[in-house]
Amino acid sequence: MTLSEAARAKIALLKSRYPERKSAVAPSLYLLQAEKGYCTPEGMEEIAEMLDLVPADVLATASFYTMLYKEPVGRKVVDVCTNLACMVNGSDALLDYISQKLNTPVNGVSPDGRCTLHHVECLGYCDRAPMVQIDFRAFGPLTFADVDELLAAEKLLPDSGPVENGVEESSLDLSGLSHLTDRKPLVNGNGGGHER
Ligand code: FES
Repeated sequence: MTLSEAARAKIALLKSRYPERKSAVAPSLYLLQAEKGYCTPEGMEEIAEMLDLVPADVLATASFYTMLYKEPVGRKVVDVCTNLACMVNGSDALLDYISQKLNTPVNGVSPDGRCTLHHVECLGYCDRAPMVQIDFRAFGPLTFADVDELLAAEKLLPDSGPVENGVEESSLDLSGLSHLTDRKPLVNGNGGGHER
């Protein structure tokens, strides 16, 4: 077993909630990501077994959603949208700037494991272009000065001290079961966190 007893109990709860077992796959994968930092192959197999599905069913869901990570990521994930509305508002330059500030290659992990930087397609916040998402929270429109402030506030800059694991915390929120813990939601609570 790779999942904790607590996670297995939550998956059993999800299984009992849905008439279609496949409907429980996505929230179960967020629970896996909350525990392991990403969707590990062993974890996906365990979920398939628990939901009486074949592993391919679980892998298909994990592969469809970009917010479910199939490879290890940093403690925080920065997604920079470079689709049309963001592109015409300077997202390519913003992406290069953020990559330099974080000392992190695009679609790579920082040397200290603090963050992962992703270049992504439209995130549905075109009215905030150019925008970025950090651990599934949206920020924008952003100037270079805003980016400086944001990266510092989120402790994403190299040598900015310890940082919490935003991926694990926000994944728990996205599972829909964060109310079973005693901590405050990051993604759905607080009117959207630090959105601009
Ligand atoms: S084009 Fe960037 S959020 Fe839609």
